[in-house]
Amino acid sequence: MTHRIALSRRDIFTAMAALGLGGLGPATLGARPARAQVPSGGSDRGLGEIARNAGRFYGCAVQASYLAKEPDFADAVVREAGVLVPEWELKWGAVEPQRGHFNFAPADAILAFAEQHGMTMRGHTLVWHRNIPAWAKTALEAQDRSLMGIHIKQVMNHFPTVQDWDVVNEVLDPGSTRPDKLRDSPFLTALGPRYIAQAFRYARGVAPQARLVYNDYGVEYELPTHKTKRDAMLRLLESLKREGAPIDAVGIQSHLVTRQGVTFDPASFSSFLKEIAGFGLKIIITELDVQDTDLPADDSVRDRVLADVIQRYVEAALAEPAVAGILTWGLSDRHTWLDTDPTAKRSDGLPSRPLPLDADLNRKPIWHALADAF
Ligand code: G3I
Repeated sequence: MTHRIALSRRDIFTAMAALGLGGLGPATLGARPARAQVPSGGSDRGLGEIARNAGRFYGCAVQASYLAKEPDFADAVVREAGVLVPEWELKWGAVEPQRGHFNFAPADAILAFAEQHGMTMRGHTLVWHRNIPAWAKTALEAQDRSLMGIHIKQVMNHFPTVQDWDVVNEVLDPGSTRPDKLRDSPFLTALGPRYIAQAFRYARGVAPQARLVYNDYGVEYELPTHKTKRDAMLRLLESLKREGAPIDAVGIQSHLVTRQGVTFDPASFSSFLKEIAGFGLKIIITELDVQDTDLPADDSVRDRVLADVIQRYVEAALAEPAVAGILTWGLSDRHTWLDTDPTAKRSDGLPSRPLPLDADLNRKPIWHALADAF
């Protein structure tokens, strides 16, 4: 497909130079194979089919309310995705806001939608220090040692057809004073550091065939905190494998940024992925998006810089055979957490443009970058 770059290369290099994205100089952009001017509807093959044909999967995070209230958005999800993951509806605070009172309906709706359209759903997430309902946080901090297992079993037993779970999410904190860098959390308080292996054992007990995943962020860049976290993750994985914890895969969230001075080194990232694969684990890019907080306001400039950031990252990821697939954290700029999170939204108040489709569900350069990379 030839996709004419509507902007002068100068505009783009100016934007990138301002961001220290030197690695995306003329050599890179010039090397970009030309693509067809694809009409906004594009070919009828969605990213899910393109990925599947390449032996991988593509999916996206959704919310039940979007699927129910926005038929155009639901149609775009069916066209583009092969896997869905609830952005919110499967978290403890959403499924059991009061002890013993379950609200599985929104997650059930997402699963029904997925299965109605020949897609699968990932379970996100069982053990996470955020979104723990207050009653559970109190009990865990009072060292209720049974509650975590009860929660894992209750949620997983409700979704027997879900065979891919983020069992444990974001337990590493590079700022921790602990040698193992485990984040302080109610689960650590209740059960000690072995809670992670125990969580995987409970999950395996419910779903013998499911893919059980450890999911985390902040390991993508050449930053001191990211390097610390990469090292801590590799040590965590080594200890889990040593004690026979039934972990199958690692989720790398991949919330990318375009901040000045933040460098992505494909070789360093690839060797990290190879070390994970060396444990016999698969890898999933679980929450891909890209913050454009430091980019100029112009949509076309942002879209092309963001597409090149995504393309370099995804090409490095897909060069690792252990990478099973990619999910973006949302499908359309119409719904992105980046516009609701005070730490991630643009200072000029403009909506972010982090995802494959724009707010009107047209395919953007990020869509083409993902299609090309698969
Ligand atoms: O609180 C309302 C609730 O009453 C209502 O029923 C529900 C209906 O959808 O919405 C709830 O609002 C918010 C929800 O998102 C839906 O928009 C919650 O207050 C808010 O906490 C929740 O934020 C989510 C956040 O995780 C915390 O769970 C974001 O959407 C979601 O994008 C974000 O995703 C996380 C991943 O799970 C883990 N990795 C980082 C990623 C970004 O923070």
